[in-house]
Amino acid sequence: MRSGFRGSMIGLLACAASVVAVGSVHADDSMQLQVGKKQYMKYCATCHGPSGTGTDGAASRLFTKPPTNLTLLAKNNGGKFPMMEVIGIVKGDQPIAAHGTREMPVWGDIIGGDPTQEGMYAKDEADAKIMTIGKYLESIQAK
Ligand code: HEC
Repeated sequence: MRSGFRGSMIGLLACAASVVAVGSVHADDSMQLQVGKKQYMKYCATCHGPSGTGTDGAASRLFTKPPTNLTLLAKNNGGKFPMMEVIGIVKGDQPIAAHGTREMPVWGDIIGGDPTQEGMYAKDEADAKIMTIGKYLESIQAK
C-alpha cells in the first residue's frame, strides 16, 4: 500500500512537472523578448534608436549614412525577417564598417561572451544573447 501511494505520488509529480514545462514555453517566449529588448537597448539603441527606426538614437545623426531602419528588415526582404543575416551581422560574420571590425565589434562583450569564461559556455551564452536580440527585432517589424 505504501509503495503504491508513493508510486502514484511520483506519477502526480511527473504530471505536474510536465504541465509546468508546457506552461513555460509561452513564458519563455515573452521572457526571451524581454531579454532581447534589454540587450537591444543596451547594445543597439544608441545608433538604431529605441524605436529601431535609426532616427531616434543618441548617435543616430553621427553617421553620413544613417543607421538602418531595423523595423523594415522584413519588409525589405519580401516580408520575411532575415534572422540569419541579422545574427551574422551582430556576430560580425558579415562585417559592416559602422559596426567595427570582426575583432572589435562596437558591442564587444556580447559577441565573445564573458572574457573570463572559456570555450563553449561563453560562446553559447553570446549566441543566446544575440538570438534574443534577433527575436526582439523580429517582434518589432513593421507590417
Ligand atoms: C555605433 C552605432 C551602431 C550600433 C551600436 C549598432 N549599429 Fe547596426 N548599423 C549602424 C549603421 C550606421 C548601419 C548602416 C551601415 C551601412 O549601411 O553601411 C547599421 C546597419 C545595421 C544592419 C543592416 C545591415 C545591412 O546589411 O543593411 C543591421 C541588421 C544592424 N545594423 C543591426 C544592429 C544590431 C542588432 C545592433 C546591436 C547589437 C546594432 N546594429 C548596433 C550603426 C550601429
